[in-house]
Amino acid sequence: MKITVFGIGYVGLVQAAVLADAGHQVCCVDVDAAKIDNLIKGIIPIYEPGLTDLVEKNHAAGRLSFATDAATGVGFGEIQFIAVGTPPDEDGSADLKYVLAVAETIARYMDSGKIVVNKSTVPVGTADRVHARMAEVLADRRVDIAFDVASNPEFLKEGSAVADCVRPDRIIIGTDSDHVEARLRELYEPFNRNHEKVIIMDVRSAELTKYAANCLLATKISFMNEMANLAERLGADIEAVRHGIGSDPRIGYHFIYAGCGYGGSCFPKDVQALERTARQVGYEAQLLTAVEAVNERQKSRLFEQISHHFNGDVTGKTFAVWGLSFKPNTDDMRAASSRVLMELLWQHGAVVQAFDPEAMEETQRIYGHRRDLRLMGTKEAALSGADALVVVTEWRDFKAPDFEYVRAALSTPVIFDGRNLYDPQRMEAQGFDYYGIGRGKSVRPEF
Ligand code: UDX
Repeated sequence: MKITVFGIGYVGLVQAAVLADAGHQVCCVDVDAAKIDNLIKGIIPIYEPGLTDLVEKNHAAGRLSFATDAATGVGFGEIQFIAVGTPPDEDGSADLKYVLAVAETIARYMDSGKIVVNKSTVPVGTADRVHARMAEVLADRRVDIAFDVASNPEFLKEGSAVADCVRPDRIIIGTDSDHVEARLRELYEPFNRNHEKVIIMDVRSAELTKYAANCLLATKISFMNEMANLAERLGADIEAVRHGIGSDPRIGYHFIYAGCGYGGSCFPKDVQALERTARQVGYEAQLLTAVEAVNERQKSRLFEQISHHFNGDVTGKTFAVWGLSFKPNTDDMRAASSRVLMELLWQHGAVVQAFDPEAMEETQRIYGHRRDLRLMGTKEAALSGADALVVVTEWRDFKAPDFEYVRAALSTPVIFDGRNLYDPQRMEAQGFDYYGIGRGKSVRPEF
């Protein structure tokens, strides 16, 4: 089938490459000419395992093409995916200006029937707005061309985006049209062979499904962080509690890891956006407000522990920070906990020696101007002479360091572990002052 994808960000590029690899003809359109030029040369704008090879292979095979010219894109595909960003506007609502601009573009140039499919995470009701905007443009053009607007949210995770897209848990299709259902079933047939993954529903339910999924996952994390903070005060260990509750299949082991908060481009934005949507329809989404508030507080947790350990004075102290991306296997630092930590450390006069396996360039881009930040080439170099090690992202490379080396390299043997990677008893035995989240040294029973 012939498909056009508007918006070559994370979602758009991965989806385009995976669909091309399944044998479809895919034309990618983006307004960013430099990005398109680079893609044609095989330079991929994001770090995502497996993506570069997939793009190069399908580009070479002629199944994946790149363009900046919207008219070319509109003419190309029977199916027009909208995968542009929906950044939060000032009040946290998803800003639809890019989505609606693509809708206008499609309506302006189309000369045959199209299926417009929303892949971007968009508020409930957006498909209707896209439909209305397109109808206006077509009316202005005085043409009568049939089109449909469907919702097909994407559930890929950064760091395993290609694998998630190739083997999706579910393919949600929101439409009330039999024709659209049939065409999208055909599109996804290569991904739906072994067991039925396609779930058909009305458009608004599909739009809400995406938010509900992300908000529930964010809720699980904030819940565990709340329990961790309680565990510290009650003299319990959150890791034991996690094992204890995860064994109940109704709860499960996924997404119940306490830590220094969730970040990324989805959870913080989507929780806020659904909260705002709720408000717009006269409903106070109290749980969502709490999920967000708990997460905001949790991002300062490492600094609170550090400040407590150093009796409120970190001026002139140096901190080795391991992990800058919001999670492993990505260079994405959007809403990353590392940023809150580093900014608090800087505000209080400390110096940061940072290392991340992938996010060094991104850190340079955001904080390169700072004199109180030293970007180090290895995790070992980051330790050199530091007053403490702070682990912020659970990269595999940080899970089993040579602790002898760590102790020798630090000027004082203190570890703040924002992802509970290490065993508190072992850390104490090795001579470290160790702080986890909801465990270990930070456990201070008061009764
Ligand atoms: C998320 C959803 O998982 C995905 O389905 C959706 O399509 C987009 O948003 P992503 O933002 O890539 O994906 O990251 P994810 O792996 O979900 O992690 C989000 C954050 O939660 C990270 O900062 C991670 O460190 C944190 N996290 C995750 C926890 O703190 N505890 C956990 O138990 C799990």
